[in-house]
Amino acid sequence: METALKEDIWIFPDFDSLGFAAAELFMAAADQAIDSRGRFSVALSGGSTPLGLYHILGTAYHGRSAWEHTHLFWADERCVPKDHVLSNYRLAYIQMISRLTIPQQNIHRIKGELAPEEAAGEYEEDLKRHMGEKGTPRLDLILLGLGEDGHTASLYPGSAPLSETERLVLPVFAEATMNWRVTLTLPVLNNALRIVFLVSGRPKAGIVREILGQGRKDRYPAGRVAPAEGSITWLLDTDAASGLEEPAS
Ligand code: 6PG
Repeated sequence: METALKEDIWIFPDFDSLGFAAAELFMAAADQAIDSRGRFSVALSGGSTPLGLYHILGTAYHGRSAWEHTHLFWADERCVPKDHVLSNYRLAYIQMISRLTIPQQNIHRIKGELAPEEAAGEYEEDLKRHMGEKGTPRLDLILLGLGEDGHTASLYPGSAPLSETERLVLPVFAEATMNWRVTLTLPVLNNALRIVFLVSGRPKAGIVREILGQGRKDRYPAGRVAPAEGSITWLLDTDAASGLEEPAS
């Protein structure tokens, strides 16, 4: 049974229940976007936490009509070919995309095989072309993970992309993993209709407490995600939430 600390922080007993709750949120956001705008534009998170969600979407929800009207983007990607073990696209493809009827032209992959700056520029043009809006595109949903250092997407503490106010997509050299990546910037994250953070495991308890429990969120990239006209939902398992105060009974 989940516990609601506040309306935007939900705690689940285990990884599986977190994944199923995330799938319900994902499909609700899809149905709402398609009902009101005829399509659903979502950016997927990288990393391992969302794999449970992607598997559930690719199996329990594979029959939904929403997939025909869904456009997949990514919050970030490693600069590797799409079949490389480190590719965020590859993880989503295996668990989800390969099982769904999402039209190929609706898969807006970050081309990690290109040079970082070229991949970033091409992805930014694709995002702008798809969203067709003047100014910063507004994605219906962006899924994000959380690193133990407070990074999210490929926005790392102290990195240049954190202070970007114009460009939507930037290349970044991730010192922590010693590889080039391409990431959405805060202007895009903070213009989303909905942000959902997925965080699992005891190693994340400290950073979750820092960001959600101690009022020190602005020190960390993940804490600077604050959509001006959107919502943020944190989906945590009990291990990741173990550093937070119990809700007043
Ligand atoms: C990536 C992600 C990154 C990830 C966090 C958490 O490409 O790795 O964008 O921000 O979400 O590092 O990763 P885990 O889910 O594997 O803990």
